[in-house]
Amino acid sequence: MSSVKVGLLGFGTVGQGIASVLARNADEITRRCGRRVEVTHAAVRDVAKAQAAAAEANLDIQITDDAASVVSHPDIDIICEVMGGEQPALDLCLSALAHGKHISTANKALVAVHGNTLFAAAQKYKVMFGFEPSVAGGIPVIKAVREGLAGNRINSVAGIINGTGNFILTAMTDQGRDFNDVLQEAQALGYAEADPSFDVDGVDAAHKLTLLASIAFGMPLKFDEVLIEGIRNIEQEDVVHANELGYAVKHLGIARRRNIEGKTAVELRVHPTLIPQRQLLANVHGVMNAVLVDSDAVGQSLYYGPGAGSEPTGSAAVADVIDMVRALGSDPTHQVPPLAFQGNALEDIPVLGADDIETGFYCRITAEDKPGVMADIAGIFGKHNISLEAILQKEPDADNAADENAATLLPIVLLSHQVREGVMRQAIAEVEALQSVPSAVVLLRVENL
Ligand code: NDP
Ligand code: HSE
Repeated sequence: MSSVKVGLLGFGTVGQGIASVLARNADEITRRCGRRVEVTHAAVRDVAKAQAAAAEANLDIQITDDAASVVSHPDIDIICEVMGGEQPALDLCLSALAHGKHISTANKALVAVHGNTLFAAAQKYKVMFGFEPSVAGGIPVIKAVREGLAGNRINSVAGIINGTGNFILTAMTDQGRDFNDVLQEAQALGYAEADPSFDVDGVDAAHKLTLLASIAFGMPLKFDEVLIEGIRNIEQEDVVHANELGYAVKHLGIARRRNIEGKTAVELRVHPTLIPQRQLLANVHGVMNAVLVDSDAVGQSLYYGPGAGSEPTGSAAVADVIDMVRALGSDPTHQVPPLAFQGNALEDIPVLGADDIETGFYCRITAEDKPGVMADIAGIFGKHNISLEAILQKEPDADNAADENAATLLPIVLLSHQVREGVMRQAIAEVEALQSVPSAVVLLRVENL
């Protein structure tokens, strides 16, 4: 039987990982799917650079700058889209689908925003559309949630789903390294997005959370409704206070089903979060990712592994390719639906706004060291029925104490029990209005998971 031919759109970090994994493990893969699978073509912008990379890896691939010729090539059965960005990736994928090619993409930005269009086109042309490599790099978490947990009602999905962000946070926390210096290292290792602000500002994690939430809850993709906060504003001082209280600071994506007066709604949010140090998630370091799923039959299950990188992500794409090879020639209506639920059974579950999120809070209040301040602050929290789990009153700020004319300022750290965010923000506005509180309160969310 002839081999199955794969065309790559892009031959960078992930494209080269796919080609290497397929070539190195060719025999093993053939035994798994019954046909030989080979990368024959790759489309890029800089042909000479890609040809040099292919030669260096000893890969015999036709490199072209004409991506349209790859998606329409009559010999190619499967396309791996690993160029990134919305365009021309979207048009090329739509063209590939119209030419009857199956697609696997690592491009979560594309799927989170245009997934509904792409899935409809895949259904129309009776081909498969996979996106295993687009979430959590090498961890087969899409397959786990979509297929392995298919018998469960899923309550929540929470995880560290950006490798670059976790790499930066780990190095800053453990080694006290500079943000920009660590970001440059993540870029050199091929972890970061073409626009690294997607990693540090939480957009990439929000793309991935959008996909996870849809396959967990059977809802359409709602990227525009994710609450997004990145890691730029995390201060060393808060990491230290959090540690003293028994918490680690991690950047999490959280999708949680809520029941509000008998109606289902979801929280979709990406933000720095304090989690107990004893939690497994608190011990996920560097480029590693982990996704914690809470579901009714299994309970909690955790999926851990490299969240970015050439061969880990290549491995996830190859898993999609193998599924496609196994399905070649079969009835596509019998395939697993892209979003786990039948397309006509997706529920338009409303996404809660920020005020309606319920979580614990870490508040760092900088206040003047004078009688009555604590009582004023406690009175405000009490008035709003916010119960406190811990209070940490620190020594005066050393810089400030050196200035004789300035009032002595104290950092006061409070941990609240779960409260609606709108209520907490109202209380914080009142605390900030106190004369004895001269600067903005630092507020971070706390999850006990
Ligand atoms: P790279 O920048 O390393 O590679 C991108 C490749 O696509 C290059 O070969 C580039 O060619 C080509 N390309 C980009 N734009 C065009 C275009 N308009 N026309 C033709 N070719 C183009 O990116 P990565 O491999 O890191 O990422 C690719 C995708 O995979 C992204 O969507 C990313 O989010 C995703 N991803 C990345 C992971 C990682 O660890 N890096 C992990 C998981 C997902 P040229 O160099 O000639 O410009
Ligand atoms: N830039 C992404 C990350 C790549 O660092 O997680 C993997 O999706």
